Amino acid sequence: MTERRVIVDTDTAGDDSQALVMAALSERIEIEAVTVAAGNVGFDDEVRNAKYSLQLADSADVPVYEGARSPLLKDHETAEYVHGEGGLGGDLDPEVDIPSADGFAPDAIVELAREHPGELTLVCIAPLTNVALALQREPALGDLLDSVWVMGGNVNCLGNVTPAAEYNFWVDPDAAKLVVRELDVTLVDWGLVVRDSTFGTETLDRIADAADESRFADFFTSIAASVRAFNREQFGEDVTTQPDSVVSALLVDPSLVEREGTYHVDVDEREGLTRGYTLVDELGVTDGDRNTRVVESIDEDGFRRLFLDTVVHGEPERSLE
Ligand code: BDR
Ligand code: CA
Repeated sequence: MTERRVIVDTDTAGDDSQALVMAALSERIEIEAVTVAAGNVGFDDEVRNAKYSLQLADSADVPVYEGARSPLLKDHETAEYVHGEGGLGGDLDPEVDIPSADGFAPDAIVELAREHPGELTLVCIAPLTNVALALQREPALGDLLDSVWVMGGNVNCLGNVTPAAEYNFWVDPDAAKLVVRELDVTLVDWGLVVRDSTFGTETLDRIADAADESRFADFFTSIAASVRAFNREQFGEDVTTQPDSVVSALLVDPSLVEREGTYHVDVDEREGLTRGYTLVDELGVTDGDRNTRVVESIDEDGFRRLFLDTVVHGEPERSLE
């Protein structure tokens, strides 16, 4: 299987760190660069967390570029209440001695895309500020990339920050609107994540049991502590969801996609009740461009297997041919 070369744009905390570990460990993915955007937790913690995750997966040589420290226009709101203080579950506070790469993340995205036209996949698992800034610098960015994957939005279902909106789109809706309009995006939304990537206690216990033997299982267990506590308190359920790892897993094994559709998508950038709302024209009642491929269903068991192979064995492809 040919390797996919990616740039990962991340607000590294919690599930971003797992997505990075999976991508770094995969033999099918080559990470060319990691770019960090304002999102989940304080910016410097995100940068540290990205480097720590790469280091854990023996990939400390991947350049980490620092990007936008706030959304395009809106005030920035973090989500420590989900990911814990510092973003690694609350108890983990490692020091990392790796310098950031020289240059501003949006410039790096543009330069890499120009250097390797048509070869790179942009993997977006954060608010889309860096990507929007890259688009402002290079309006033909889409033509220079092989593909663009985005974790964000909520396709005709409840959001996770407000009833109308999912976190990544809500934090920087102005950027999200631009990105879904200008780029042909493959979208992994919050609804898919809840339907097909929720782990209950059976899976979480299995990973915790492997923590003595696997540093990845140990890392996941630390990370999961805060999100489990949040979900228990908010919803009375001891579960985790793995939004950003769904994207990594689909890049490792595209055959996990069971159903998809291509629709016109837009984002409400206005302040108010529907800030960050994702309009997805599933019925085709608007005349908007149908340029967003929405992943609607994935093989839930296959995803769980791939995730367990990653954290328990350090081999995402272990059960694949
Ligand atoms: C998304 O928002 C962030 O909190 C997660 O890292 C993920 O990218 C889920 O809504
Ligand atoms: Ca994220």
